[in-house]
Amino acid sequence: MEFEKNILCIGAGYVGGPTMAVLAHKCPQFKVTVVDINPTRIAEWNSDELPIYEPGLDKIVRATRGKNLFFSTDIAGGIRENDIIFVSVNTPTKTFGAGAGMAADLQYWEKTARQILQYSESPKIVIEKSTLPVKTAQAMENILRNVHSSVTFEVLSNPEFLAEGTAVQDLENPDRVLIGSRETPSGLKAREMLVEMYAKWVPREKIITSNIWSSELSKIVANAFLAQRISSINSISALCEKTDADITEVARAVGMDSRIGSKYLNASVGFGGSCFKKDILNLVYLCRYYGLDEVADYWEGVVKINRYQQERFIVNMLSSMFNTLAGKRICLFGFSFKANTGDTRESPAIFISERLMEEKAEIVITDPKALKNARTDLAGAKGKVSFVEDPYRAAEGCHAIAVLTEWDLYRTLDYRKIYDTMVTPAYLFDGRNILDHKKCFDIGFNVYPIGKPPLTHLKK
Ligand code: UDX
Ligand code: UDX
Repeated sequence: MEFEKNILCIGAGYVGGPTMAVLAHKCPQFKVTVVDINPTRIAEWNSDELPIYEPGLDKIVRATRGKNLFFSTDIAGGIRENDIIFVSVNTPTKTFGAGAGMAADLQYWEKTARQILQYSESPKIVIEKSTLPVKTAQAMENILRNVHSSVTFEVLSNPEFLAEGTAVQDLENPDRVLIGSRETPSGLKAREMLVEMYAKWVPREKIITSNIWSSELSKIVANAFLAQRISSINSISALCEKTDADITEVARAVGMDSRIGSKYLNASVGFGGSCFKKDILNLVYLCRYYGLDEVADYWEGVVKINRYQQERFIVNMLSSMFNTLAGKRICLFGFSFKANTGDTRESPAIFISERLMEEKAEIVITDPKALKNARTDLAGAKGKVSFVEDPYRAAEGCHAIAVLTEWDLYRTLDYRKIYDTMVTPAYLFDGRNILDHKKCFDIGFNVYPIGKPPLTHLKK
């Protein structure tokens, strides 16, 4: 079969995999190939057990794989054969040298740009999907503009806004698609090509275009704003706990103001995920680089409050359990950074597990999708930790349960049955405010929600 377009994506991760699967599903007239340097990952994409868990993803991969969606390790061949190339390799926070702990590590991204230059034999449109520091496209253009090559390249920025756990629906029905380009005739032409591609399934009014720097920056700013809302509500949850106000009631009252809006106001044990912290630190680094120290300090506060919220959770556990956790068994309900994903990158559960082990507590971790990643995350940890699939068995013999992920499953468990197998006084720390606190209190638990007065049977 002749395909209308041949599209390549370099990087088969949480972003590249689902994005290309939905593109292939929506556009059977395009051939979509996803390549990655990691052969295990590619083998998993080609198997029945996909490397990532995302609701609805299995179905669309099954419907398209081998027809117009292909996964391969042949990066060179992919570059040669495709004229539209999405780049979705990871851009983690740098761990070494200048900007360590803050700046984006662009080594994979630059290596990919050089591979594109090396293997290209015809003109290419290169599309940045990865979140990158503003002005990265310029560096990419400089690498691609090589005197020894007659091939021409156009670089576009088309950041991805999907959230994990809802990736398929976010991709099928996005709030907006953003496409940035150079405002030259060839830049505008490439931009138009990409607009037409998305218009196959996204309403045109939701496809917005901008100059390339605005597009790169908008992605980081959108994540910074989302994270800022969570840190704002979490900071107020600390004040609620001191004043007997209830964070759920405050969030509802505040969020009903249509200028503010009700989303992203769920107080929690803190935000996690591969993007928020990385992107804010990147923003902070950029601001400092340009001498904007006050702006950098302002955004750095969002990350500081997030760490404070996680530390506060531990301090609350410690002080309510007679100031010692040594030898106590604590069961963690949930390890992924949010519900409906097995991803644990930057999950608050990692920090909390490590802190609990420092206090010499014994931890039992349960999670419906993230136990494999949890084992890897805690492989080097010093302390007693076990992993148990069944939440009822996990809680047996424990002194406390800490809810760290808002899996629906935890809302509907039989907490009386759980209570009966635990050590008393039994504690419940609800880091996501998803349980029926009054009901759990009536069963016998001492209940500590986030940003609400605790419900305890203990004498003060
Ligand atoms: C990553 C970034 O975290 C995010 O900022 C960006 O927007 C998109 O890329 P994600 O897809 O979640 O997001 O990362 P990850 O799951 O780590 O996938 C990246 C993939 O790129 C990996 O499978 C890795 O093997 C691959 N890769 C990396 C290459 O194929 N070539 C490289 O040189 C480096
Ligand atoms: C985020 C952005 O939402 C997405 O647009 C971008 O492309 C990538 O980064 P993601 O990290 O996958 O997506 O998930 P998100 O749903 O935004 O949640 C991030 C973290 O914030 C999770 O740990 C979540 O539990 C937490 N959160 C979210 C809260 O604590 N409270 C809230 O009200 C919302």
